[in-house]
Amino acid sequence: MAAPEKTPSEGAPAQPLHVAIVMDGNGRWAKRRGMPRSLGHRAGVEALKRTVSAAAELGIRWLTVFGFSTENWSRPAAEVAELMALPKRYFESDIARLEREGVRVRVIGRREGLSGELVRLIEDAEARTAGNDAFFLNIAFNYGGQADIADAARRFAEAVAAGRAKPSDLDEAAFASHLATAGLPPPDLIVRPSGEQRLSNFLLWEAAYSELIFQDVLWPDYGLEHLKAALAAYAARDRRYGAVAQDDVLAAG
Ligand code: IPE
Ligand code: MG
Repeated sequence: MAAPEKTPSEGAPAQPLHVAIVMDGNGRWAKRRGMPRSLGHRAGVEALKRTVSAAAELGIRWLTVFGFSTENWSRPAAEVAELMALPKRYFESDIARLEREGVRVRVIGRREGLSGELVRLIEDAEARTAGNDAFFLNIAFNYGGQADIADAARRFAEAVAAGRAKPSDLDEAAFASHLATAGLPPPDLIVRPSGEQRLSNFLLWEAAYSELIFQDVLWPDYGLEHLKAALAAYAARDRRYGAVAQDDVLAAG
């Protein structure tokens, strides 16, 4: 008997559309080299540049990277200052090329707490690339999954208080429209290098059916070959979204 055709949302799609990455391991990378952590973070920006090019080359359309979490404020002030300087470092060297190559840049996360200069830089990068649609790069900065869910709940509550919405309007889709990731497809694949196996408050709502892949490489060493390996592991997964595999439906029938 011929195998039934799979629906697009079932089984192992060869290629994820949206990949999200927890950029982790900068500190350990620097420590192994006897360098200050700040140099690990700078090397991490180089890895980001390589990985954005690699993702586009491998046919990924959406890439979301975790740059700074709402919990990273608890690091020493000097390290926080170094991390705050990274978007500037990245945009100064790359925004013209990203703009030219059709990349739309968005920064998700709370703007409160960021310096006026950084907010202007982010707004400029977003405005310059707003018309692009060849590739979508989302940078999570001052982002936390729980903070974003709380912010979304507050925005919905405000809409109810103002008479613009009713409690019964709230379902999953309505809620998601208040998140920082509104309008983005959920990540098919979330990758975390550095050997740690946790989400660390990244895309909590959006990760409901993401495949998770953990890789034993520190972020500053990351590049095309590691992303290829992650995609190969993804292609071997069986995505069922809570349903059962088509073959098992037939076997049970
Ligand atoms: C990732 O590297 C950068 C951020 C979380 C901002 P880390 O700084 O977490 O590096 P490790 O985990 O200490 O090696
Ligand atoms: Mg870390």
